Amino acid sequence: MNKTISTLIPLLLLPGLGLSQVSGERSKHEPFETPVALYLTWQQDPTTTMTIHRVSEGAEDESWVDYRPWNEEEAAGRSWESVTGSSEPMARFSNLPVHTVELTGLEPATTYQFRVPEGPGTFKFRTLPADADEPIRFAAGGDTMHRQIWMERVNRVAMEYEPEFIVWGGDLAYADGRENRRGLHRWFDWFDAIKNTMITEEGRVIPIVVTMGNHEMRGGYYFHHDDFEQTDDWRREVAPYFYTLFSMPGQPGYNVLDFGDYLSLVVLDSDHTNPVEGEQTEWLEEILDERQEVPHVFPVYHVPGYPGVRDFDGDVSTGIRKHWVPLFEQYGVRVAFENHDHAYKRTVPIRDGEAADDGIVYIGDGSWGTSARSVHDADETWYLERSESVRHFILATIHGDDASFKMIDEFGEKIDEYELPADD
Ligand SMILES: [Fe+2]
Repeated sequence: MNKTISTLIPLLLLPGLGLSQVSGERSKHEPFETPVALYLTWQQDPTTTMTIHRVSEGAEDESWVDYRPWNEEEAAGRSWESVTGSSEPMARFSNLPVHTVELTGLEPATTYQFRVPEGPGTFKFRTLPADADEPIRFAAGGDTMHRQIWMERVNRVAMEYEPEFIVWGGDLAYADGRENRRGLHRWFDWFDAIKNTMITEEGRVIPIVVTMGNHEMRGGYYFHHDDFEQTDDWRREVAPYFYTLFSMPGQPGYNVLDFGDYLSLVVLDSDHTNPVEGEQTEWLEEILDERQEVPHVFPVYHVPGYPGVRDFDGDVSTGIRKHWVPLFEQYGVRVAFENHDHAYKRTVPIRDGEAADDGIVYIGDGSWGTSARSVHDADETWYLERSESVRHFILATIHGDDASFKMIDEFGEKIDEYELPADD
């Protein structure tokens, strides 16, 4: 192991709240220490699959996960299934392996128990329901960790609402793609925040869906790089952690995640490792076209098209309004999640560049765990319904064709709410 890294390891083995609380029978495999990181996401339908990511200390060839359906009475009687995945080094600077194991063929709305090589504890996850006949809650936001303490505070409040998953629209650890001690350390703090706050007392790990932000890469934006190429290798080179740590979106950095036929999250890259214009916009049109019958299609991306803090005429915001917004409008998007500006904002419904009753509402602006900036005055800004300088998250609830949003600050106070008008 890299010497510099091994000096960091003792810091990582302080038990996280969740990890110290879970228990269960010992794995048949030899246990290692507590994983450096344990977090879940999806590469395919969250109603029947789960992807388990783990960063371990040296267990290079131990990429397995054991799992079984779980309920109070039966668990002890069920045998474990074992699935082996793959691993790759976290970055050139760190040879810590990032393990990825995807479980498929699961039952919807079912709790599973799982264990990883760092035994003896067990964990749980829950698949999403097959439909939205009952309300489904998730939390959304972005810009998660200026400071770990702020991220953990908002995580804890969000967890009180028992979200099925959390969506983070970029600027996660603020490591800027730096393959050095400082960059790595920011990810370690971010992993710790998840371990400390996003594993319930019962050992249930809450999955995340993330997007690329400017602080996931060196230079922030593709146009700051003279050697830009729209290739997997180039993206991996400038954003080494993002492309090893998260199989969603994975390459090429944008993707769509379909929850049965009731919800699609459209995960986009706002000029970071992919230009807004061109290949990504062509792909966006295709996937929005295919999902016109899906009741809830939410784009999520980092830089806002309708900024609560920054300049409306900024290049990236202008590009988003020019290339993506017309497609959102054409294909029936009703709400989009924006980030990056480190404040709270909700726009008026917007269509064709002006306020319109049947328009799209943009909610953001990415202040989960950042110091919040001062905002444009909503009374003097045509596109803003609300704006506030506050750390917060968005609690989204979808139920049949209905969707509602409660915005909640770091102290658990509701700061705003929005309900989609019934679709005629
Ligand atoms: Fe940002």
